[in-house]
Amino acid sequence: MKPFTAVLIGAGARGAGGYAPYALDYPHELKFVAVAEANPERLAKFAEAHGIPKEHQYSSWEELLRQPQLADVAFICTQDRMHYHPTVQALEKKYHVLLEKPMSPDPKECVEMELAAKQHDRQLTICHVLRYTPFWSSLKKLIQEGRIGQVVSIQLNENVGYWHIAHSFVRGNWNNSDRSSPMILAKSCHDMDVLSWLMDQPCVRVSSYGSLMHFHSGNAPEGATDYCIDGCPAEASCAYSAPRFYFGEGKGWARHFTEELTRENIVKGLKETDYGRCVYKSDNNVVDHQVVNMEFENGATAMFSMSGFTRHQERRIQIMGTHGELRGEEGRIVLMDFLTHETTEIKIPPQTTGHGGGDSGIVRSFLKEVKQYGTSESLTSASVSVRSHLMAFAAEESRLNKGKSIELRDYYESLMNQEVQV
Ligand SMILES: NC(=O)c1ccc[n+]([C@@H]2O[C@H](COP(=O)([O-])OP(=O)(O)OC[C@H]3O[C@@H](n4cnc5c(N)ncnc54)[C@H](O)[C@@H]3O)[C@@H](O)[C@H]2O)c1
Repeated sequence: MKPFTAVLIGAGARGAGGYAPYALDYPHELKFVAVAEANPERLAKFAEAHGIPKEHQYSSWEELLRQPQLADVAFICTQDRMHYHPTVQALEKKYHVLLEKPMSPDPKECVEMELAAKQHDRQLTICHVLRYTPFWSSLKKLIQEGRIGQVVSIQLNENVGYWHIAHSFVRGNWNNSDRSSPMILAKSCHDMDVLSWLMDQPCVRVSSYGSLMHFHSGNAPEGATDYCIDGCPAEASCAYSAPRFYFGEGKGWARHFTEELTRENIVKGLKETDYGRCVYKSDNNVVDHQVVNMEFENGATAMFSMSGFTRHQERRIQIMGTHGELRGEEGRIVLMDFLTHETTEIKIPPQTTGHGGGDSGIVRSFLKEVKQYGTSESLTSASVSVRSHLMAFAAEESRLNKGKSIELRDYYESLMNQEVQV
């Protein structure tokens, strides 16, 4: 069988680094035939790796989508605020689309994209990669098999990691919701998605609290320089020193500001890009901790906590059922049965691709679903994803209104009462 052909829009960390390697590993399944990327170095690097001819290398998505349909599927991996227009246009051009999360920072646009996919009869799958990992799919399977009875409550902790929050949400691409998305969407739409999936019930109401408590100018050490590398007097005692991180355990993350990881390039990046800024003097506004309470249609509840103040980046979950309990953390799930007192440990082997195997898992599943298009719904279809995105939007509305309880039905109806365009 011939491989699916694809175009990539946005050959950045996710597009080029997360999903496209699948085409190199499984050339009989997927082949990139065109790319749109605004950064010339990234464009050239991607085109060379995938053998894309000059005439199909575009410097913007607009240019690529002005062409007649070039392939079966489109991978859309631009930044959060650049998802809506390319997605709607790609669907109009009859591409099946794999779109990065979040769908859009505007709830109305999320609903419109879902409608556009239906109108143009194409598949629109959202990159909620967790569902495609052995860890999360094992939890789902254990629940579906009835191993803990009916799920009554779930507690989920997203430990972002002190260095990761500094990199992505204080200095990096998702530090300011006016340019990207609020934290509950940018980082935690995955958590809303897995909670909605594991519960398998509509969420009826949410409430949320959280703030930007630490990373602001009020906490800057005396005499702190704007960039750590400029001889900051507090550097030795600051856990968030950029040079210590990017020359040390975070060296790989320096790829976000330099293509080649040489000492000179990293120093240049630390002097000239936001990744070198003092964490107390950035232009960040997204929260560094947030909690969300949720109630589902059958009365089950969930509690979610995101915090940047943890040593490691990890999720931990406790799922409490009527007949047993599941606890999950990196690489390990423990099942405890109330009747037999039997404890079963399930080890999840380390995965070789990003996001615990989710990056390759979603591409494999997406291609399979496109092949069988029309016979079943994608595991993370636009419709499924709109539901969990709305939980995130409603949580943010609650947080901004001192934790007011938000009814999801009212929230959705108020959206639909605004004019929805397709
Ligand atoms: N699924 C996940 O778990 C996950 C993880 C991280 C990020 N994301 C999401 O993935 C998306 C991309 O993130 P990233 O880290 O790859 O960002 P990135 O900045 O590395 O990549 C985006 C790319 O789009 C390019 N671009 C900008 N304007 C363009 C245009 N007009 N036409 C074509 N290309 C253009 C940029 O040059 C850049 O290379 C974001 O929405 C982000 O929130 C998802």
